[in-house]
Amino acid sequence: MSEQDTHSEAVGEPTRRDFLYLTTGMAGAVGAVSVAWPFIDQMRPDASTLALASIEVNVAALQPGMSLTVKWRGKPVFIRNRTPEEVTAAAAVPLDQLKDPVARNANLPADAQATGADRSGGQGKENWIVMIGSCTHLGCVPLGQSGEYNGWFCPCHGSVYDTAGRIRKGPAPQNLAIPAFKFTSDTVIQIG
Ligand code: FES
Repeated sequence: MSEQDTHSEAVGEPTRRDFLYLTTGMAGAVGAVSVAWPFIDQMRPDASTLALASIEVNVAALQPGMSLTVKWRGKPVFIRNRTPEEVTAAAAVPLDQLKDPVARNANLPADAQATGADRSGGQGKENWIVMIGSCTHLGCVPLGQSGEYNGWFCPCHGSVYDTAGRIRKGPAPQNLAIPAFKFTSDTVIQIG
């Protein structure tokens, strides 16, 4: 996707006031390298290629209640600085009410539970949400701060995610996936 295309997407959704769409120079460079590679090499990227595919995102401007979408390895990644109310709402949901009780968090063991904390940036970073912006039904990009739980809503077939990105209603089978990420400083998140 060209930089012009990403700008067009952002302009096309004027009602999402806190929506920003960023693509980084690093992401663009990775994309260009991938296109030039033979198909077989794309199927077996070596460690240096995977390392290059990491991006760093400065989230200093994201106040509570604000979101950012970045492009990583060709996918949208939602980054949200949740409000205290959103953190509390997510933490208060009993796990037995969840359609998918698994955290789906690449930073945790595969059997970690989908608590509000384990779906977040971790201890002391519970306000931060980082998720692949791809509906687990058929891959549409859900809309932020939408739906019954004021989390994410996928308009394609009506999947409703809560403020921790957990599937609550609709046909999607799993919570939105959380990629490997870490804070490299108080205001910079490395994804990948
Ligand atoms: S792709 Fe999201 S509900 Fe079907």
